[in-house]
Amino acid sequence: MKNNSIRILAIESSCDDTAAAVIAEGRILSNKIANQDIHREYGGVVPEWASRMHQENIVPVVDSAMREASVNLEELSAIAFTAGPGLLGSLLVGCSFAKSLALSLNVPLISVNHMEAHVLAHFIDEPVPEYPFICLTVSGGHTQLVRVNSPYDLKVVGETIDDAAGEAFDKIGKYLGLEYPAGPIVDKLAQEGKARYDFTKPTVEGLNFSFSGLKTAVLYFLRDEVKKDPNFIVKNLHDLCASVQKVIVDILVEKLVKASKQYNIREIGIAGGVSANSLLREMVSKTAIEYGWRTYIPKIQYCTDNAAMVAMAAYFKYEKGAFADQTATPKARLKIARSTDD
Ligand code: KG4
Ligand code: ZN
Repeated sequence: MKNNSIRILAIESSCDDTAAAVIAEGRILSNKIANQDIHREYGGVVPEWASRMHQENIVPVVDSAMREASVNLEELSAIAFTAGPGLLGSLLVGCSFAKSLALSLNVPLISVNHMEAHVLAHFIDEPVPEYPFICLTVSGGHTQLVRVNSPYDLKVVGETIDDAAGEAFDKIGKYLGLEYPAGPIVDKLAQEGKARYDFTKPTVEGLNFSFSGLKTAVLYFLRDEVKKDPNFIVKNLHDLCASVQKVIVDILVEKLVKASKQYNIREIGIAGGVSANSLLREMVSKTAIEYGWRTYIPKIQYCTDNAAMVAMAAYFKYEKGAFADQTATPKARLKIARSTDD
């Protein structure tokens, strides 16, 4: 590798995972993550625990990413961090660490939007989508449709007005007695079930989503059925999972089709942890054939929260000279920057 090549260390700490990655000349050299199992027993992420665990994990995770990449601190061209959206206490740990390191190494600091990073994860490996493309980002915290005109021009064209798709999987899974995070368990159990319960889809105008009504509808349905038969959930668990999964996936794919038609774009990307869902993958593949889409889903380790995607987004910013300074502060509700379409 040339001595003057661009090498960036990226740190991600927006929720409960502490992650660090090194990118050199646009290629990911390492991608490390420390998951926080502690939240499982509470059935969801506990913000106070999350920030404390980030403080414990950040040094070993960064150290491990640097060692795997075989890059020394003095060889770094910049330090990148996730500035939001996310849990403020968690974001502050990554931001403070990145600022101190950039200051001590006298290299630029790059601030990255977590949602932009999920989208730009599509550029880590070939094949990459052509611009403009539509990206559906579906995770535990977010559900967004983004029109991507370039790495510097992303426009949110639709988003959830209440819960995220992953949150719907997790909360409904909890009503079904499943562990947190329930999404992957629902997916697994659904494979042996039939989607024979008809949960109605919400009517939301345009390209926005809503999952909160569905959650309540399932809760009331279960309450009524359990009154009649206390073993209703256990007896019908597979079919319940299949039905819940089907309605969530139907909502997502329906809006994706609508966005593709509205913007006449057939380059389609999926990002975020829920993109691991087997029915979503199957439905997107089927829909792609029907509508002539080319579809892109990054490797699963780049879909769930990770620092490689932050490194990729930071690399684009480095090329443009878009640096932050020591006054940078994270924002829990950070929005994707305005687009030229606005
Ligand atoms: O992107 P991610 O790792 O973290 C953030 O929320 O940012 O996404 C985690 C979410 C959780 O809600 C989890 O239940 C969901 O993704 N998830 C799934 C599957 N795998 C992960 N949901 C449905 N089916 C899956 N196979
Ligand atoms: Zn995320």
